[in-house]
Amino acid sequence: MPVFKRLILYMKPYWWRILLAALASSAYGGLDAAFAYMVEPLLKKIFMSKDVFIFSFLPLAIILIFVFRAICRYANDYFMNTAAQLAVQDVRNEIFRKNIFLDLSFFYRNQTGSLMSRIVNDVAAMQNGVGGIVSGIFRDAIGFFSLLGVIFYRDWQLALISILVIPLTIYPASILGKKMKRTARKGQEEAGLFASILQETLSGIKVVKAFSLEKSMVEQFKNANLKYYSFNRKMIKYNSLSSPISEVITSLGIAAVIFFGGSKVMANEMSAPEFFSFITAMALLYSPLKKLINSYNGIQQCIGASERVFEIIDAVPEIIDSPNGYKLTQSDNRVELRHVYFKYQDDYILEDVCLVAEKGQMVALVGPSGGGKSTLVSLIARFFDTSEGQVLIGTRDVRDISKESLMEHIALVDQETILFHDTVANNIRYGKPGATDDEIIKAAQAAFAHDFIMEMPNGYQTSIGDRGIRLSGGQRQRICIARAILKNAPILILDEATSALDTESEQMVQKALENLMADRTTFVIAHRLSTVIHADKIVVLEKGKIVESGSHTALLENNELYSRLCSQQFGSEKKIDA
Ligand SMILES: Nc1ncnc2c1ncn2[C@@H]1O[C@H](COP(=O)(O)OP(=O)(O)O)[C@@H](O)[C@H]1O
Ligand SMILES: [Mg+2]
Repeated sequence: MPVFKRLILYMKPYWWRILLAALASSAYGGLDAAFAYMVEPLLKKIFMSKDVFIFSFLPLAIILIFVFRAICRYANDYFMNTAAQLAVQDVRNEIFRKNIFLDLSFFYRNQTGSLMSRIVNDVAAMQNGVGGIVSGIFRDAIGFFSLLGVIFYRDWQLALISILVIPLTIYPASILGKKMKRTARKGQEEAGLFASILQETLSGIKVVKAFSLEKSMVEQFKNANLKYYSFNRKMIKYNSLSSPISEVITSLGIAAVIFFGGSKVMANEMSAPEFFSFITAMALLYSPLKKLINSYNGIQQCIGASERVFEIIDAVPEIIDSPNGYKLTQSDNRVELRHVYFKYQDDYILEDVCLVAEKGQMVALVGPSGGGKSTLVSLIARFFDTSEGQVLIGTRDVRDISKESLMEHIALVDQETILFHDTVANNIRYGKPGATDDEIIKAAQAAFAHDFIMEMPNGYQTSIGDRGIRLSGGQRQRICIARAILKNAPILILDEATSALDTESEQMVQKALENLMADRTTFVIAHRLSTVIHADKIVVLEKGKIVESGSHTALLENNELYSRLCSQQFGSEKKIDA
């Protein structure tokens, strides 16, 4: 569907505002024409018949007409702009709703800053377009056509001469418009780029400071800004060109009309008041025409931005939720990976991975970093689909399970400890919406987070992210663990969940997790091997392949990668047993 038509469709729900605006703008546009028309009788009455009565009422009438015109203008602008604003608000809600439901891989492919720029800058550009422009179009189109009526009524031959120039103004306008659309799109892309730089610099401010990157960041930002300017300069060039070009061309029309009209008046074929009425209408006519041309350019810019917005609205998730997906039951706790291959881009990250976690078992994934451990567990939660092979929960392929049910079934404590700008209590409550304060406190106690939470200024009601509230990595992890404990799901995934804890609190949290793991199927990824010694099965992943698996003792006897890793961490095997 053409982009502009789509934009208009967003305005449909607000039709009554548009109708009111249209009525007001008809009156407004019509008044110009009426005024131009009235020039003839008024000039006749006042200057030829010297009608004192009309002359004395004229100032009052003019004021009244302009007050009425002002009211119409206000109503037109108000209703049209609020309609546009509401429509764009719908667009913004939709882009966010569509965006957030896209797959994780979409967010890995696109930079956060650039996505933010689409939702903020591009939607704002749409708003300028739809709001300012559409409201003008109504008024100007009605003004233009009613004035056209007046000039044709006055003298159709002269009218034909004066409108001959219109096609001449439209041609350069359409060329400029196309250029603007292209430039606007590129400009929005540049804006996205510098939003990315901004976002990365601000979120990585500590690293920027630590490596004294301020100057080079300033340089990068300056360059991106300069590039953005070069697009804006083009836009300004095209925008500034459009009025002068159309003015020069319309002057041809005015010149021709004065010449031919003037000759008619001199030959007594036309009265002077008629001629002035004609000239007034024509002078007024070119102004809405010029504005219509500018609106056209504005619409082209707006379409450039809208295309980028619709790209996201139209993006289709690759991971499709099966329509009548299977709903998992409490007994569906067995997890199996069958000959799983997976790649993000070109290279396989996982190759021929076969793995079974029986109900209630604890499976530990160990191995060098970059081996594919996090990737493997993200396949269980179906953040990505396998390239080949199957992931089964219970007896079902994850692709046949309803996504909602799958997410309810899995609690994940990720290596990235994400907390939202909200109270501590609410951050834990994300694990189970609607959980009571009591449940939250229990979960926090189990995660050994209760004590430090109580020491915060407002306890559980302290807002995370407020000034002065700085949590340590270990504290953040414990809040994330509390969230997972509260969720109480049958399958638990712990991806380096305790890596930021000191040894003492790790031991405590470990105990809590062990309680949690009881009759749950658990996947644990851990750097510290001491935490996985008691796992039912330890799987060693290296470069995307399972190189070993078995119990701690069996793997030690194997004398391969695992036992090497153990001796690196513990110094000697004996110490572990001790
Ligand atoms: N989103 C991603 N896009 C592309 N490659 C990725 C992505 N995430 C991880 N990788 C790559 O996949 C490999 C395995 O990563 P990961 O599963 O995080 O390993 P581990 O958790 O064992 O350290 C690494 O080579 C990493 O570069
Ligand atoms: Mg990892």
